[in-house]
Amino acid sequence: MNRLRGQGVLMNIAYLKCSLCDAEYRADSVKYVCPKHGNSGLLDVIYDYEKIKSQVSPGRISRSDDFSIWRYWDLLPIENHASVPPLRVGWTPLYRASRLGKQLAIRDLFLKDDGLNPTGSFKDRASAVVVSKAKELGVQVITTASSGNAGAALAGLSASAQIPAVVFVPSTAPEAKVAQLLIYGAHVFLVKGTYDEAFDLCLASSKQYGWYSRNTGYNPYTTEGKKTASLEICEQLSKKSGTSEGWTAPDRIFVSVGDGNILSGIWKGLRDLSALGWIDKIPKLMGVQAEGSAACYNAWKDGTETITPVDAHTIADSISVGLPRDGTRAVRAVRETGGAFVTVSDDEILDAMRKLAREEGIFAEPAGAAGYAGLVRAMNTGIIDGDEEIVVVITGNGLKDVPAAVKAAGKALVIEPKLESVPRI
Ligand SMILES: Cc1ncc(COP(=O)(O)O)c(C=O)c1O
Ligand SMILES: [Zn+2]
Repeated sequence: MNRLRGQGVLMNIAYLKCSLCDAEYRADSVKYVCPKHGNSGLLDVIYDYEKIKSQVSPGRISRSDDFSIWRYWDLLPIENHASVPPLRVGWTPLYRASRLGKQLAIRDLFLKDDGLNPTGSFKDRASAVVVSKAKELGVQVITTASSGNAGAALAGLSASAQIPAVVFVPSTAPEAKVAQLLIYGAHVFLVKGTYDEAFDLCLASSKQYGWYSRNTGYNPYTTEGKKTASLEICEQLSKKSGTSEGWTAPDRIFVSVGDGNILSGIWKGLRDLSALGWIDKIPKLMGVQAEGSAACYNAWKDGTETITPVDAHTIADSISVGLPRDGTRAVRAVRETGGAFVTVSDDEILDAMRKLAREEGIFAEPAGAAGYAGLVRAMNTGIIDGDEEIVVVITGNGLKDVPAAVKAAGKALVIEPKLESVPRI
């Protein structure tokens, strides 16, 4: 058992705050969104930072032997350790990408491989926290809409915690992701429609049947789970540079954007660390969208936080989102940190998949590689220069979407089992 566990048993949440009107709510008085704003009034979880500082320090966390998101217990919204499912989530590797860094002329390039989470994507972070919260609330059934990965993450973490899960995914979701849902024993609805339609149907079903909703952004604790990636990045960078009493924020972080919740979660983690005084700057956040699914990019370019839905099409199914549910906070994250949005084509995404695999040994699904494709685009178009420390988050494993990998890699040669059939390479 970790030394930090058992400390900070009382939750450190001060209040929940509406991201649209700043209204403040007690954490036990609102379950999902700001009552004044409905589904668009996403809530930020605000902590008692002075209390956290009195409980724990970066140096103490750095000595923790809990190699999961729960090493940040005091900065997370869960009260009881018994609520946490056994499946290990987080503390994914942060690799120095020397070859790709050199090719792009970037001073310090790091790749955080979140495809190594237990169900193969970044979404495990959110599901681990929401399933813990569900356990704490004693809910009978938990549900989510998903383009695939959030559902797989919920299915896996729910199996680990033994809470029934109901998942709504578009019927076009990649086969491997649907197989994951089924093998974990989730109740699966393949919706003949888009992810956006699945989202609305899931919300309506959750209200009708009283199921606890994990829907991205709508449930405030998804963001809290996702923020753990930026806590890890800053702690891991400090370990690499040999400092641990304060942590090290990179200059810039690239991440792919669908609903925008990963991006807003990463921003939230950085703001928490800054409020604690554990980092001395907030990195510029770079949101990467597919050209065919660029609602956040459009809003950012037009200088507005109001998201206009698009008709989404891209090979990167995980970021094929018409109406990003956390778009407003994602656009704000980019604007307030002085970052940018970039778009990438499907061909650039396929190229990024090849590059990541061949140069650094990281096999990513299309949405998982899109962040790197965005970095290439940003360098090639002069949006950034390379004299920086840059982290790209790889958000999903390549085995999630084998047909896309075959599209990127081509097919292997079929031969007779004879030596003369093997040509010299
Ligand atoms: C692999 C992967 N990358 C990126 C994203 C985008 O995350 P968000 O929808 O929170 O922006 C997702 C979401 O499903 C995903 O599964
Ligand atoms: Zn509000």
